[in-house]
Amino acid sequence: MDQPTVTETPTAPATAKVPWWRRPWIVPLWAISALFLVWRVPDYVGYKDPGALVEMSDYQHFLIVSGHIMLGGVSLICCCMQLWPWLRTNHPKVHRVTGRVYVLVVLPASVLAFFTSFMSITTPPSGQVGNGILATLWLLTTLIGFRHVRNGRYADHRRWMIRSFALCFSIVVNRLFIGVYAVGFSPLLDSFYGGSVDRLATDAAVASIWSSWVATLVFAEWWMTRRRKPRKRVATAA
Ligand code: HEM
Repeated sequence: MDQPTVTETPTAPATAKVPWWRRPWIVPLWAISALFLVWRVPDYVGYKDPGALVEMSDYQHFLIVSGHIMLGGVSLICCCMQLWPWLRTNHPKVHRVTGRVYVLVVLPASVLAFFTSFMSITTPPSGQVGNGILATLWLLTTLIGFRHVRNGRYADHRRWMIRSFALCFSIVVNRLFIGVYAVGFSPLLDSFYGGSVDRLATDAAVASIWSSWVATLVFAEWWMTRRRKPRKRVATAA
């Protein structure tokens, strides 16, 4: 007699048709990224009064910083599109195109971000190293993800691209963390920072540089393992 058995389906589709309101994170993801882009990027389009920008030594420095910001902006938009399940399910062609654009843009963006990290005038070395490692990991995770898709290893490709997106999005989280740290450290203004708001702000910046990309990377790992629960289906044994 036929026995119903439970088997695992490793090829279960990653994105079943689920309405967007059942994925409540997609709205805040877009909203926070859009806010960041509208708030921070326009200042770096065209050479302006340096007082409006992060401190820069010369025009070449400006080109490197604004280059990483423009390319970073495109990669952030692609990143949001790639993570949008509705787009992935309903417009796979758009998903493929934005995926290619993302990889193409991250390559120069991460290299420029690496130089930006060590050229920064206001970030202390402890923060420069944190940014330098972030830029390197961003490049490596994207290259590894790209290599996997070229070799047809789609599950590995997906995992590495999620890591790459987490690192890209960490730049937005960084700006949120910096405010949280500044408020959190403020009771120490007189006792530890000797009344210097600059010292407190620098410390908050370094803390947020390190913790933002570590936090988004750890979150991505948790998210992937949480979703890796095998789907079960009832099959009939022959
Ligand atoms: C993930 C790797 C990245 C690293 C390591 C990085 C590094 C840096 C550094 C070190 C600065 C400060 C420059 C200075 O003090 O001279 C900076 C500024 C900036 N970056 Fe990035 N960046 C990265 C990605 C991105 C992305 C994806 C965007 C998206 C648009 C972006 C947008 C900006 C903006 C707007 C500024 C100017 C500061 C501000 O107004 O917030 N960055 N970045």
